[in-house]
This record gives sequence, structure tokens and C-alpha cells, in this order.
Amino acid sequence: MAHIVGSISTSHVPAIGGAIARNLQQDPYWKPFFDGYPAARDWLEQARPDVVVIIHNDHGLNFFLDKMPTFSVGTAAEYETADEGWGIPALTPAQGEQDLSWHMVESLVGDDFDITTCQEAQIDHAVSLPLALLWPEHNARGGQWPVKIVPVCINTVQAPYPSAARCYRLGQAIRKAVESWDSDARVLIIGSGGLSHQLDGERAGFINKEFDLTFMDSLVDAPEWVTQYTNEQLIEQTGTQGIELLMWVVARGAMPDSVSKVHANYHIPISNTATGLLVLESA
Ligand code: DHB
Ligand code: FE
Repeated sequence: MAHIVGSISTSHVPAIGGAIARNLQQDPYWKPFFDGYPAARDWLEQARPDVVVIIHNDHGLNFFLDKMPTFSVGTAAEYETADEGWGIPALTPAQGEQDLSWHMVESLVGDDFDITTCQEAQIDHAVSLPLALLWPEHNARGGQWPVKIVPVCINTVQAPYPSAARCYRLGQAIRKAVESWDSDARVLIIGSGGLSHQLDGERAGFINKEFDLTFMDSLVDAPEWVTQYTNEQLIEQTGTQGIELLMWVVARGAMPDSVSKVHANYHIPISNTATGLLVLESA
């Protein structure tokens, strides 16, 4: 059966795509952010995943306000990268792991999660940038990412959003699905979103370092800590787009109860966002 090698949760900010395109990794503004990733890449070298289940939110690229699935799973053979309006270059398309996609859809619906299946989907910065940060040498059109993907999309664009408690349970169901997939593949879970940020309104630019760091710590030893909060309370604590932290909650749910922390980084701000990185493996 397939095996989950660990999880990497990371923020995504479109401007990272521009910084990569312009080779700004050593620039003083960007360095503390990019310096977080070599340790994650070192760990990946020994974890050697074949497949990534990437938990992300869409930003108006695949779903708009007229049709908004709460949870969806991509089942496509290939996912083109696209830019929903930030001016960042398209990256290499990602290949889908269709056998796992369909197995996950069966398993998740069997576990009472109402999944929208997407036989066609594009991927925005929430999917392409974590791949580019973790496998930078493959960041060129025409090349191939060294992993196949299954994108799992959680609505954080149009209220109502799924609760943190439900997202945690979705993560647990994803673990059950992956571990019952008849394959010897090594599977990495990526959670892409957050941490605290608010892009518009009176609190535009809002960041809550204390909450972010408490949340990151909780994911190691007390993963259900965050489920005490309603989404309104989470938005109050982390900003309107800070609710993207739900991706980290799903990713943590997909890991075993007991994990060890391999690596973490936290840097504020990149653009309007508090950026975090957390690498976990089974204890
Ligand atoms: C920013 C952050 C995001 O998560 C996003 O999706 C778009 C923009 C930002 O801070 O600029
Ligand atoms: Fe975002």
C-alpha cells in the first residue's frame, strides 16, 4: 500500500513567482524567506516522494462565485499552470496521478465527504509556487516536475467555508484513502496557504505573529487545538485571507497523531502575508 512520507505546509504569495523569475533569492527583502527552503529540500532528498497530494485553495481561476465547491479533487492527466491576474510567468504543467485521484474520490465520498471531481483543472500560484520552491531546478517550461500530483481544493474564497474541525477530518480521510491505495508509491502531503494576511478592507495588511506561531507550534503536538475556533474567530485572528490556514489543518489531519518537526521557518512580511513553512514526518 502507498506510504505517506511526511507533510510540508507553506504559504504562497504570487510575488514569489516574480522573485523566482528575476532570481531575487539573495535580495535582502527575499533572502529570509527563500532561506527557509534548502532544509526542506534536503529532507525531500531522503524522503524521495513520487506523488504529492497538494491541498490548496483556488483564487478565482477554476471556480468563480457562480459555482463554488467546498471540496474538490483533480482527476486530470495534466494541469496547466495559469496566472489569475498577478503577472507571474506560467511554469511547467504538472502531471496528474490519476489512479490515486480516482481512488481518493471513491474513498472520500465513501467516507461521506461530498467531493466535486475535476477532470479538467488549471493550477494557480497556490500549486505551482510550492513546486517551484521545493524543486527549483525543474522550474522551466518544457522540463518535468519529479512528482505527479493530486490537487485537493478547499473553498476559502466564498463563504461559507468548511470549519477547521471538518478540514481536520478531511485530512484524516485523505490519509485513509492514500494508505488504502494499492501502490508502492511514496506520497508527500503539501498544504499551501496562509498564514495571517488580509488583502483588502479596513484591516488590509493585518498580520498576527503571535497567533501564527502558536498555530504552527500546535500542529506538532496538539493538532486539534485550532478546531476550537469558528471560521469567524479564525478570520478575526488571522485576517480575511488568513483563513487559508485551513490548508495546513487538512495537511496535518493527513499525518499520524504523533509526528516530529523536521524544520520550520517564519518570516514577515512577504507582500501582505506572514509566510510560514513547516516540515513534519511520522514520529
Ligand atoms: C497575497 C497572498 C495570497 O495568499 C494570495 O493568494 C495573493 C496575494 C499577497 O500577500 O500579496
Ligand atoms: Fe492565497
